Amino acid sequence: MAIVAEPIADVRRRVREVRAGGQRIGLVPTMGALHEGHASLIRRARAETGFVVVSLFVNPTQFGPGEDFAKYPRPFAQDLETCRREGVDLVFAPAAAQMYPAGFATTVHVAGMGEKMCGAFRPGHFDGVSTAVAKLLAIVQPDAAYFGEKDAQQLAIVRRMVADLDLPVEIRGCPTVREPDGLAMSSRNAYLAPAERKRALALSAALAEARQAVLAGERDGRRLAERVRRRLETADGVELQYAAVVDPDTLDDLARVADKVLVAVAAKVGGTRLIDNVLLRNL
Ligand code: PAJ
Repeated sequence: MAIVAEPIADVRRRVREVRAGGQRIGLVPTMGALHEGHASLIRRARAETGFVVVSLFVNPTQFGPGEDFAKYPRPFAQDLETCRREGVDLVFAPAAAQMYPAGFATTVHVAGMGEKMCGAFRPGHFDGVSTAVAKLLAIVQPDAAYFGEKDAQQLAIVRRMVADLDLPVEIRGCPTVREPDGLAMSSRNAYLAPAERKRALALSAALAEARQAVLAGERDGRRLAERVRRRLETADGVELQYAAVVDPDTLDDLARVADKVLVAVAAKVGGTRLIDNVLLRNL
């Protein structure tokens, strides 16, 4: 049964007891509004560790001015029910004042990687993410933490931060979970009106084509990016922000695709900003 632990000292105490009992601890950081994508991370943590912690925290510092912080869905009771159903051991749902008390002054900044792609359209976003994730890792001290490939740039940045700061945690990337028609699951899909929901399928369709092209032998990164860009620039009701073909670990642009590639896009559909990607390794 999930326990909602508020004070950080309580979380630490519980985790210390569990570790003393010899169990491995898994952490799944989330902003709540849990869907099957989050559930897949929880199940992987459940399978690989003995004690699963889920954090529910809509982190204010990763939202820019004019973004959707205020309207971000917060179905707390439903999220607790999902955690209970998935066998989560501890839910950590801190208040913003607990995470960022008066006088808070530290930012974790992963230079370069956080400024391109989504970072170019959301300045400061990844500083907010890395700072919050660093804090969650420090509070829970998990053996493994689980992140979705859906947010591939975030995953790469978190891996970089953990390596650079020698944080003693294994970062596990988990595949993107999609709706039956291909749309990547996201808490923000709830914002889409039915007509927008249909238009949003252009993203996953363009990426599926890119995947096919790579599997058919396309190795020219610029041509691949151009193909995805053209497809989405001509899609009805889709306002493309970027189409990037990069190394999934460094996020450097790839002129030539060798053994691995990340093709990532962001676009606005109606007022809703959506991201999606396709990740291919061992080509
Ligand atoms: P959130 O958007 O709630 O996502 C929490 C985790 O679920 C992330 O690792 C994300 O990549 C993963 N996820 C979301 N949709 C997914 C999908 N369709 N398939 C697989 N995994 C999916 O990402 C955040 O929260 C925040 O930035 C956070 C890391 C919690 C820091 O505040």
